[in-house]
Amino acid sequence: MTLRVNPAPSTVSVAHNLEYRGIEISVVVPTFNESENAPLLIGRIAEALQGVQWEVIVVDDDSPDGTADVVREIAQKNPRVRVIQRIGRRGLSGACIEGMLSSSSPYVAVIDADLQHDETLLPKMLHALKTEQLDVVVGSRYIAGGGIGEWDASRARISRVATDLARILVKGDLKDPMSGFFMLRSDVLQDIVRNLSGQGFKILLDLFASSERPLRFKELPYKFRTRQFGESKLDHLVIWEYLTLIMDKLIGKWVPIRFVMFALIGGIGVILHLIALRIALSAGIEFEPAQIIATLLAIFSNFTLNNFLTYRDRRLRGVRFIWGLVSFTLVCGAGAVANVGIASALFTRHHQWLLAGLSGAFIGAVWNYAVSSIVTWPNRRRPIPARKATARS
Ligand code: GDD
Ligand code: MN
Repeated sequence: MTLRVNPAPSTVSVAHNLEYRGIEISVVVPTFNESENAPLLIGRIAEALQGVQWEVIVVDDDSPDGTADVVREIAQKNPRVRVIQRIGRRGLSGACIEGMLSSSSPYVAVIDADLQHDETLLPKMLHALKTEQLDVVVGSRYIAGGGIGEWDASRARISRVATDLARILVKGDLKDPMSGFFMLRSDVLQDIVRNLSGQGFKILLDLFASSERPLRFKELPYKFRTRQFGESKLDHLVIWEYLTLIMDKLIGKWVPIRFVMFALIGGIGVILHLIALRIALSAGIEFEPAQIIATLLAIFSNFTLNNFLTYRDRRLRGVRFIWGLVSFTLVCGAGAVANVGIASALFTRHHQWLLAGLSGAFIGAVWNYAVSSIVTWPNRRRPIPARKATARS
């Protein structure tokens, strides 16, 4: 029996389907500057999923090349296509999660817009999910029949190492946990979604690592294609983001990952401080000015590294960078006062210099972290950036 839910309104007649059965599979396509690729991909998905009730949800982070407009134009003619345009936000995993959550279908898939993934796998993935006891089907480069295409040796090696590392987090022998191409049951997503880290590029790994029970999965092979238009958005920071995700999944339950980074960078600051002090003293500078120079240098290095790594998602640039540096210096100054005050009070009472010193340093670090996260790197949305010339105007 076919349920007739919501007959399609006449203005939105779903082409070639007299009977509207509701969308079965939502294909989420994250995009950033993919105005040339997105229309091609949508055409190919339509071809691959003939006979299936599908929809495409493009999640675009306000690409300067006007990807969202290009897709909206297609959506005007094809109600199976829609766009979520996110303003002032970036991030592949976050985009995928939002796209998947905006779907009401029983199955959701994620595929890159740049035609590097093989869309002809989609009907096979759907079939596997419907006929076998599975939670997720993964497009895999690392099983027989799959391949990484024209990658240079160094990228292939990095991917291999990252894949091996990922296996620490995945319960089960998933050969391609870094894949950005997969399909899963929506109810499985609902079970996991609140545990997701949502950071960085590795949404599939995030899903596997965040699920409380081992996911039942199957891998289907495909050959990673070469990108024809546009360029990859993976930069050198991707490796850092990846390590952040792994750390978050391993220890994030107990300590905020940002604090761990902040403390590590603080440690680097202490080392720099001592090196600078040593150099300044041997250059004949008096102790007091030498100590001031070393302190300022350490503050500057801590600020810059935190701005680049710990708060890369809220990075301050231009004039904001200068103001950030000033506020960070003030915050750390207050932190130092708290540090010395507490350490001295403890020392007067217990006369244990190590305990007193460490407690003071710890309180100072927590203060610096907590206050700078509010004052220097507040979690406010960036103002909507002006669009540069769009590809279509
Ligand atoms: N919305 C949104 N926001 N989309 C993004 C962003 C972002 O910040 N960054 C990248 N994308 C989109 C791209 O437009 C593309 O459709 C897809 O995400 C993949 O980005 P690429 O820049 O092409 O990544 P890649 O080809 O280097 O990496 C792919 O392969 C890896 C496997 O090694 C991705 O699929 C990775 O997820 C995958 O791990
Ligand atoms: Mn790509």
